[in-house]
Amino acid sequence: MTLDDLQDVRELLKGVGGVLRYEAVYVSNCSSTQDLAASLVKQGYGEGLVVIAESMDSGRGRHGRKWFAGPGGLWFTLVLKPPKLSNVQLLSLGAGLSVAKSLRTLYGLNALVKWPNDVIVGGKKISGVLVEGKSDVEVFILLGVGVNVNNEIPNNLREKAISVRELTGHPTPRTSLLVEILKNIEEIYTNVLRGESSEVVNQWRRLTTTLGCRVKVVTDEGHVEGTAVEVMEDGALVVEDATGMRHRIYSGDVFHII
Ligand code: BTN
Repeated sequence: MTLDDLQDVRELLKGVGGVLRYEAVYVSNCSSTQDLAASLVKQGYGEGLVVIAESMDSGRGRHGRKWFAGPGGLWFTLVLKPPKLSNVQLLSLGAGLSVAKSLRTLYGLNALVKWPNDVIVGGKKISGVLVEGKSDVEVFILLGVGVNVNNEIPNNLREKAISVRELTGHPTPRTSLLVEILKNIEEIYTNVLRGESSEVVNQWRRLTTTLGCRVKVVTDEGHVEGTAVEVMEDGALVVEDATGMRHRIYSGDVFHII
């Protein structure tokens, strides 16, 4: 299969944004789209820049983990410059939500979000989101999105990860998926900027696998075990432990306990 569907994305994205004026930069390979986007911002690119790579040599995931990014996947970083950085956590939840909604709309997949922003289908991860903030010259957010589309999943990840191609049974064009995700992100970004947090959180609640589950959350400070009872309008996960104490968690890895 020729994986050339992303190369013409520059023209296509011009008509997609409203508030966000999307501008695409496509490269066949880079170390990480996060780093390339950061250096392009330093060169003068602004909000709405979308850096897309066919493959990345040093793709990264949350908590400094390596993100495998071979050809055929959808790997991109969107640059945002919100006037204030107050609700980045909610934006991060909203990005995962945007991917889940897009996979549902385009392919009818039962995509769900796992706090904070993993997208899961049939218990396996299909997409992850990495949000990084930089304030070198001015504040900007790098919203990194990775979706397994037509890429090969390495053998050691096959138990935990899945791709759109495996689920639909055929190779899938990535441009339509990218456009749908960017439309959904713009809608959520607008909600967040207007302070309409409940709109985003309510949508997230409807599509999550996390709430109501017994979970172990591993954070930098240690771990919390209990039931995931709520997600707050600032994006925090609330876990109630065996003593009835409620813990608000802003960053960590959730493991569902069966
Ligand atoms: C995670 O689930 O740990 C987050 C994965 C985020 C991967 C994306 S792919 C595009 C962007 N560039 C990177 O180096 N990482 C993010």
